[in-house]
Amino acid sequence: MVDINTPPLNRNIVRRSTMNLSRSPTSIINVDDYGPAAPMFFGHIPYVAAKATKSLLSKPAPAAINLAELIDTLPSLLRLQKENAARVMSIRVAQDEARGTSADPIMDLFGRLDLSCGEWWKQYAHSDPMKNYTRNLIATDDETFTLLLLCWNSGKESPIHDHPCDGCWVRVCEGKILETRYEIDSKTDKLEMTSETVFEDSAPTFINDSMGYHKIGNPGCEPALSLHLYCPPIKECKIWLDPSDASLPSTAVMCNYTEYGVKKNVDPILKEPINRGGGQ
Ligand SMILES: [Fe+2]
Repeated sequence: MVDINTPPLNRNIVRRSTMNLSRSPTSIINVDDYGPAAPMFFGHIPYVAAKATKSLLSKPAPAAINLAELIDTLPSLLRLQKENAARVMSIRVAQDEARGTSADPIMDLFGRLDLSCGEWWKQYAHSDPMKNYTRNLIATDDETFTLLLLCWNSGKESPIHDHPCDGCWVRVCEGKILETRYEIDSKTDKLEMTSETVFEDSAPTFINDSMGYHKIGNPGCEPALSLHLYCPPIKECKIWLDPSDASLPSTAVMCNYTEYGVKKNVDPILKEPINRGGGQ
């Protein structure tokens, strides 16, 4: 068993602008509200522009939602997306294209989760000064989503990793988060850095494997907290401890430090490296 926590950040950080996806106040989503238009609305940008706009404009002004409303709504929304994607290939393609954009209903719903009211997320903020970061489970249905609060110690970071799911949506609750993205150079078989972004506010960001891989760290002098929404849940992921050899990822098993506020006392596990060419 090897702790996947890696050495602290020890280099200068290039700061770039924070993705700004803030939007006007929104209302509580009820997937039933979208009626017959739902199969096309969820993830079909042209349809949204041409036909669903009228439906949206007729709805009450959007508003923030609380945690209970988020976890009540997510499974229905995600199942609806999955059913529609399975039925019509063009819907699947449109859903994939919309991920992480203003046309992404998951991005919208997650972005509406109210982080300012009572700092409710602090009840899940369990950290360990001996680790780079801790994973704290807030909610999951073990089928469509997992919501975690990650606590990042100052100057520490995750390994470079992938996301074997539809994607990961992230919001900063406290402090600063540095995301460094990579792509595999097929000629050199190295992971090449493509961007560095510091996120300092709670606007949501998104990544999936079609956008590259990333590591996340805390460049600040104070602890940082961030919400991570994985859809569907993932049990393990690839990690790269040596970016100069992308052909040799390891597999890390997802282990939570706490679940529903209760400590699990289980360290992350690093499996043996995958054989060259395997799992890529
Ligand atoms: Fe990630």
